[in-house]
Amino acid sequence: LYIGVDLGTSAVKLLLMDEKGDIKKIVSKEYPLYFPHPGWSEQHPEDWFTQSVEGIKELTSECDKSQVAGISFGGQMHGLVILDKDDQVIRPAILWNDGRTTEETDYLNNEIGKETLSKYTANIAFTGFTAPKILWVKKNEPENFAKITKIMLPKDYLAYCLSGSFCSDYSDASGMLLMDVEHKCWSKEMMDICGVTEEQLPKLYESYEVVGSLKPEVAAELGLSENVKIIAGAGDNAAAAVGTGTVGDGRCNISLGTSGTIFISSANFGVDKNNALHSFAHADGHYHLMGCMLSAASCNKWWAEEILHTDDFAAEQKDITKLGENHVFYLPYLMGERSPHNDPYARATFTGMTMDTTRADMMQAVLEGVVFALRDSLEVAKSLGIKIERTKICGGGAKSPLWRKMIANIMNLKVDIIESEEGPALGGAILAAVGCGEYESVEAAADKLVKIVDTVEPEAELVEKYEKRYQEFRQIYPALKPVFP
Ligand code: XUL
Repeated sequence: LYIGVDLGTSAVKLLLMDEKGDIKKIVSKEYPLYFPHPGWSEQHPEDWFTQSVEGIKELTSECDKSQVAGISFGGQMHGLVILDKDDQVIRPAILWNDGRTTEETDYLNNEIGKETLSKYTANIAFTGFTAPKILWVKKNEPENFAKITKIMLPKDYLAYCLSGSFCSDYSDASGMLLMDVEHKCWSKEMMDICGVTEEQLPKLYESYEVVGSLKPEVAAELGLSENVKIIAGAGDNAAAAVGTGTVGDGRCNISLGTSGTIFISSANFGVDKNNALHSFAHADGHYHLMGCMLSAASCNKWWAEEILHTDDFAAEQKDITKLGENHVFYLPYLMGERSPHNDPYARATFTGMTMDTTRADMMQAVLEGVVFALRDSLEVAKSLGIKIERTKICGGGAKSPLWRKMIANIMNLKVDIIESEEGPALGGAILAAVGCGEYESVEAAADKLVKIVDTVEPEAELVEKYEKRYQEFRQIYPALKPVFP
């Protein structure tokens, strides 16, 4: 048996898979997310570990615990976790969707320079990336900066607590802006720029490599064997790609979670010349390009829960009938935006309402706005000559048939539905299985275990209607940019 842990932003999701790839059980445990200032986003790493331990106990409560062989992860990316010499967490983790580092990001992109950053790391700076956060702590919390003994990413904190191994993997570490992605090693230049040393950074592994086994006291607490192997795991998007079979060359996966991403696997290293897409290592040992929007399914959650005061998302979607004909537009930039605008000051808006606009029209605009914004990243990929005709889909939003249909028709892609939308958790379990020697490679495992059960085809008439609307949507952000703060 293998355990995949998806360390998300709203909850940790744990999945138990057997060696044939059958999912035996899924458990989810929530923890709080803090927004101490507008645009800031933090969590307590201790909450991740406590809830993961509770989750693993519940997950394995009915199985033969001696059969659990390995645990691996897909983790929310980019978050800065810092520990002192006694392994205490120094301050709350600063998350991937935190926008406080505008000054540091400007310094990196404009004074160090985008070209130089891209040469060192294959990427430019975005507010959510880890290196600008290190610079922020250095400037704003020098007493905390001075205490830093270990710097790690969210899922690496779990691996550290479970096994004592101070490790990360190439896919997740790619998003720190401290790693030379092409050569898969820490960048000496970036460490100097951030004022950190290699001793403070984790040892790097491929996502499917074993980094250690359970610490005796943790094994005892969980009721599992000390021989349970801990496998490095991956950033949640790379893990999701494994969980949807998006491995090898030229495959695509769209994730509709708190964030929205479009992920394109690639056998070879490559960078887009404007760095609008991230160029990262993949969990299969190769590379990928990715566009990331900061608020995707979270727009749906915000609109339904905060504004309409309901959590019945399906009921809100059932009166939506005007596909391709809605006059209301919604910009989904509730946390600023990463890809492709790189603008922490972007904001969400509605436009186009008239007296006859209904609640359903507004809901429709929210769902469409997320897909239009994802298409912005697809357009960047297309401009690089990448041909994408079909995509997989995962994340909470992937459960909505309406959202799937919008993706197919707004993006003009065939959308392959797989048996389980549990992207990162399933990917984590698959990585654990590969690490334990059950499969010879990530590709072999994903090809065997991930099954397509249906395909949503784009419909010519809807594609044409949506094309016109997308061209209108594209004009809204540049027009409104001057009024954002
Ligand atoms: C990717 C990103 C998000 C988080 C979500 O670059 O920031 O997708 O990984 O957990």
